Amino acid sequence: MEVTKINSATTVLASFFFFSFCLLSSPATSQSPPAPILPPSPSPAPAPAPHHVNLTELLSVAGPFHTFLDYLLQTRVIDTFQNQANNSDQGITIFVPRDSAFAMLKSSDLANLTRDQLRTLFLYHALPRFYSLSEFRNLSRINPVATFAGGAYTLNVTDAAGVIRVSSSWSKSKISSSVYSTSPVAVYQIDRVLLPLAIFSAEPPLAPALAPAPEAGKASDATPGRGGSSASAPNSSESSSTGGANSASASFGILNCLILVVAGRLILAL
Ligand SMILES: *[C@@H]1O[C@H](CO)[C@@H](O)[C@H](O)[C@H]1NC(C)=O
Ligand SMILES: *[C@@H]1O[C@H](CO)[C@@H](O)[C@H](O)[C@H]1NC(C)=O
Ligand SMILES: *[C@@H]1O[C@H](CO)[C@@H](O)[C@H](O)[C@H]1NC(C)=O
Ligand SMILES: *[C@@H]1O[C@H](CO)[C@@H](O)[C@H](O)[C@H]1NC(C)=O
Ligand SMILES: *[C@@H]1O[C@H](CO)[C@@H](O)[C@H](O)[C@H]1NC(C)=O
Ligand SMILES: *[C@@H]1O[C@H](CO)[C@@H](O)[C@H](O)[C@H]1NC(C)=O
Repeated sequence: MEVTKINSATTVLASFFFFSFCLLSSPATSQSPPAPILPPSPSPAPAPAPHHVNLTELLSVAGPFHTFLDYLLQTRVIDTFQNQANNSDQGITIFVPRDSAFAMLKSSDLANLTRDQLRTLFLYHALPRFYSLSEFRNLSRINPVATFAGGAYTLNVTDAAGVIRVSSSWSKSKISSSVYSTSPVAVYQIDRVLLPLAIFSAEPPLAPALAPAPEAGKASDATPGRGGSSASAPNSSESSSTGGANSASASFGILNCLILVVAGRLILAL
């Protein structure tokens, strides 16, 4: 009897803890509701919500962006980006190609670059300012747009009725979803690696056997661009077009909560 009582009290406490954690860690600006009066719990007060997005963490759970993230880590460009996200008033906008975009390139395309070129190539995938998707229309009026790589490393942005494209000399990529967009950090998924003329003096060869045929035979989709076919990523369930800026991070938060709740149940069950 006694034991059951204690157990259910623990359950209530633990549920409350996880529930509040979910509320606190939810990316939406929900205020925490007035807390019901409960005996002081022994758990430490929840840490204040971090003001800085951990880019490594963000890129490792979204995507898949493993290739991009690996290069950022290898070239230490991740530190430059994180520093800008943490310490600048302007913020940062990062264009992140999916793994499938890297798979379209021949492996020698990047393997033959010097370390400096590689670093520049990845700096080229970011703008030293935060731009929400709604700001791209204005941005498209000031082409070419300067990137983090500076100098000749510019991009052209177009916004045709909400379809936003980011072009370098040898590739025209489309923003296929918004991974994160809360000032000062914007991360947008793109479907091509950006290839600047200043690094690739000629069009780099594509991988020979690309494009596993799009499954739901949509032949009449778009005219193939010059850089390759317009095959979209095989697993495009999450590639909603340029809409919900925060949906990805919101669902990430919810997923976290579910995991925590399940973990909590497991602990209780032991
Ligand atoms: C960011 O996240 C990564 C991966 O989870 C972790 O290794 C790293 O320590 C974190 N960095 C900071 C500054 O919290
Ligand atoms: C960014 O901020 C986080 C959390 O405040 C900190 O742990 C991290 O070291 C900072 N990173 C850089 C590069 O400033
Ligand atoms: C890349 O380098 C390899 C050897 O290092 C060479 O055989 C190959 O031709 C190079 N490819 C290009 C595109 O420069
Ligand atoms: C775009 O520019 C116009 C005029 O320069 C300005 O009024 C408007 O607020 C800008 N829109 C955004 C989303 O920045
Ligand atoms: C970018 O736009 C500028 C100005 O419209 C144009 O001169 C340039 O050729 C464009 N570059 C690319 C790579 O599309
Ligand atoms: C998505 O990827 C998973 C695992 O990589 C695979 O099992 C699944 O069939 C894929 N779904 C589609 C629609 O391609």
